[in-house]
Amino acid sequence: MTDELDGVRDHYRATGLTERLKTVLAALGPDDQLLTTQQLSALDQFHTRGLAATAELAQLAGVAAGMSVLDVGSGVGGPARFLAATYGCQVTGVDISEPFVDAARYLTDRTGQSGQLSFQTASALELPFDDGRFEIVLLQHVAMNISDRAQLYREIRRVLKPGGRFATFDVVLAVGEPHYPLPWARTPATSFLMTIGATREAIEPAGFRILTWQDDTEVAKAWFAQLRVSGPPPSPNLGVVMGPDFAELAANLGRNLMEGRLGVLTAVFEAA
Ligand SMILES: C[S@@+](CC[C@H](N)C(=O)[O-])C[C@H]1O[C@@H](n2cnc3c(N)ncnc32)[C@H](O)[C@@H]1O
Repeated sequence: MTDELDGVRDHYRATGLTERLKTVLAALGPDDQLLTTQQLSALDQFHTRGLAATAELAQLAGVAAGMSVLDVGSGVGGPARFLAATYGCQVTGVDISEPFVDAARYLTDRTGQSGQLSFQTASALELPFDDGRFEIVLLQHVAMNISDRAQLYREIRRVLKPGGRFATFDVVLAVGEPHYPLPWARTPATSFLMTIGATREAIEPAGFRILTWQDDTEVAKAWFAQLRVSGPPPSPNLGVVMGPDFAELAANLGRNLMEGRLGVLTAVFEAA
């Protein structure tokens, strides 16, 4: 397990990320000028369909003002900042990558949201929270990095209040083996994809009841097809976070979707 987590940390090691962000964000304005969620969305929404996917998932999950939300695998904090700005909820993010957590805190400072958000370095398999602490848990494009799904979903259930909701948006295995490198894993060593059916079988026994179950593969394919025409968004984009090969990693995800090797799942569950 330690080897697995070390491999994942290595993939998201992002050396010097906060310093890089400071440099590229200088183009958007001086340090003391607040940035908006929209201005950062090309670099801080690290999943298929970017900000639109976060907005849809939050709506499906029923996020509302004053709720206590946990974002597991929060990356550089874009989804958490969007939720706090849009709904006026309190969001906590945890991520295994220390440079990502550092960058999430820096970006949150730049958007002036530090009072509503907190980020900490922790593993999704050992969440540093008491039982029943949150009303909503979000998991976006993270499960693919985790082999022990039973433990992942048990931990998520444990920190949710009874009646709380768990919203997941993840890449799933379809037919055949995917082409690598991919945005979450440059080799199969840190990729733990499951089929859509196996994902459901892993989540329900942790104490969840399905509210929403959507195969979003076609929507994701249309988004990648559009990206092929328009090209990646202008910098600063996710290339700043993941390095110059990010366009290749993203293109491979698109190719795998088009070839029917991978799919995209959106699901919302209620904690029993
Ligand atoms: C593809 S990124 C998605 C980030 C964010 N959810 C988003 O959509 O913008 C995957 C994230 O999951 C984190 N991650 C992977 N395995 C993890 C684990 N076991 N515990 C906590 N975070 C993990 C990575 O460090 C990375 O930030």
